[in-house]
Amino acid sequence: MAESMKGMQRTCRCAEVTESMIGQEITLMGWVQKSRNKGSIIFVDLRDRSGIMQLIFEEGTIDAEGFEKASKLRSEFVIAVRGVVRARAGAVNEKLATGALEMDARYLRILAEAETPPFPVEENSRTKDEIRLKYRYLDLRRPDLQKNIMLRSEVAYLTREFFHGEGFLEIETPMLGKSTPEGARDYLVPSRVHPGSFYALPQSPQLFKQLLMCSGYDRYIQLARCFRDEDLRADRQPEFTQIDMELSFVDVDDVIDVNERYLKFLFGKALGVEIPTPIQRMTWQEAMDRFGSDKPDLRFGMELVNVSEIVKDTNFVVFRNALEKKDGSVRGINVKGQGGLGRKKIDKLVEFAKGCGAGGLAYIQIQESGEIKCSFSKFVTEDELQALIQAMGGEKGDLLLFAADRNKIVWNVLGALRLHFAEELNLTDPKDFRFVWITEFPLLEWSDEEERYTAMHHPFTMPMEEDWDKIDSDPGSVRAKAYDIVLNGNEIGGGSVRIHQDDIQEKMFEVLGFTKEQAWEQFSFLLSAFKYGVPPHAGLAYGLDRLVMLMAGADSIREVIAFPKVKDASCLMTEAPAPVAEKQLEELGIKVAEEE
Ligand code: AMO
Ligand code: AMP
Repeated sequence: MAESMKGMQRTCRCAEVTESMIGQEITLMGWVQKSRNKGSIIFVDLRDRSGIMQLIFEEGTIDAEGFEKASKLRSEFVIAVRGVVRARAGAVNEKLATGALEMDARYLRILAEAETPPFPVEENSRTKDEIRLKYRYLDLRRPDLQKNIMLRSEVAYLTREFFHGEGFLEIETPMLGKSTPEGARDYLVPSRVHPGSFYALPQSPQLFKQLLMCSGYDRYIQLARCFRDEDLRADRQPEFTQIDMELSFVDVDDVIDVNERYLKFLFGKALGVEIPTPIQRMTWQEAMDRFGSDKPDLRFGMELVNVSEIVKDTNFVVFRNALEKKDGSVRGINVKGQGGLGRKKIDKLVEFAKGCGAGGLAYIQIQESGEIKCSFSKFVTEDELQALIQAMGGEKGDLLLFAADRNKIVWNVLGALRLHFAEELNLTDPKDFRFVWITEFPLLEWSDEEERYTAMHHPFTMPMEEDWDKIDSDPGSVRAKAYDIVLNGNEIGGGSVRIHQDDIQEKMFEVLGFTKEQAWEQFSFLLSAFKYGVPPHAGLAYGLDRLVMLMAGADSIREVIAFPKVKDASCLMTEAPAPVAEKQLEELGIKVAEEE
């Protein structure tokens, strides 16, 4: 029995009722959170996106028909209710914004009944993710998710406000396009009109925004949907949103400057958090050396220490072999207060390190008693042992962990162990926002798989002038005018100054192993546009989902996306992706191969 709301109009939302409204008649509409029937009085918690308001239906105050209706209310019924605001007769509920108020209900309509939901709509739900995502429309009613989605809306609004004020133009770029060079796998869309041809959904608007600079638009911004077919993690979705920007006639400092002001504005307005500027900058090399990561979490120490020099003459084969490798080193971290860990836990750490690519993990445990347990004591001299402890700042109670290998592996292992302990020992506060710019990334990255250099950012990233003469002799050492903005160990954005000179771009393609023809085939429109007057330009893109996740204190970007996908890139609610009708495939000239 669903009634119409004809003649009734909502006067405000539930949590917008304030003390100053005591004595007034108001009309609320929303969902029944819960109802308790105490005989001659019925208590109902009414919920909408603002929060909760307590309604009182009392026999005699409301007419018999109204009271009868109120007695039928169940969770998730949708109602319209008119009544008078008054101070709570019972105990004040400190947890609610409206906890000192209640509505003396006079008139009720049931706008929709509801079946018993598969899980209760409540904050901090303990229902399994799979169930919540299958019924996402119910899940989205939960106050914590609603808060996140509202924050996301606020962030989008503030972003537009800020960049509009800075003279940026919002320009949309196509979804149906050609493959872009961000390095993940493309999502393809078959063309009906051109059988056998495919559009690629954009991995980012990279090439289009550079074209817009060629066209003179000068400052561009877009909240852009991006699509990447890659393995999903807590901070990755197959489709996500970037706050994407590009600027003309600028260098690194200009991009950083406008973005620092943006972050200050955004965090101030949305969270009331003051971000100190200028934001700290750190070169990629320093980040790797000190934190073993290009997205360091600066909320705690436990920095890496390079002890290669101390053990350079050691007889310990593991260390010696590492030092003999190209780019090999021995480095350690000091985990304070964990020197007393038992054998089982130590074994687990070794396994963890191996999972990160290490051959093993060497350790020194300094017991509270002062006794020292060292996994490689047989192989080092007492002097070497003491020198290691001293270099690591080792004190009673400390656990010293060492990795020996090529730098890449050593950084990876110790960087991961550092984060592992931060979580285990609860060293981080999600409300402590620590930003850092990572600059001077290597231009190129060696790919063992492809046996060639690949672009660390993308092929249009400008090398640093002072390194360019090493592009033939030592390409791996050339640094780029690329930068990432990192927040609490998350890469929330990245960008670069772009190459706008033919000769540098051609050389870059050559180093990346493209022939001129291949480069033209893939990027003809961009290279052609560059022939007709290209301004120096640079840009940046934030992952909006990651940014909002951190602002909301959530631990997965799924918590800030209304309809997210799960690990295998499917949607549990709509069941996408799904087979399509044979006729649709025929029109597209597509035949699906039989599974073997
Ligand atoms: P990049 O590839 O670094 O740069 O992407 C920019 C930012 O987007 C976010 N991000 C993601 N978020 C959720 N799910 C994903 N699968 C995902 N992949 C990336 C990250 C990242 O920092 N065109 C360049 C930017 C530029 O040079 O201007 C680009 O796309 O937070
Ligand atoms: P082993 O000679 O294999 O008994 O190793 C001696 C110690 O060195 C053990 O604690 C190993 O876990 C450790 N170890 C082995 N390989 C490495 C490595 N690549 N880095 C750091 N420690 C290692």
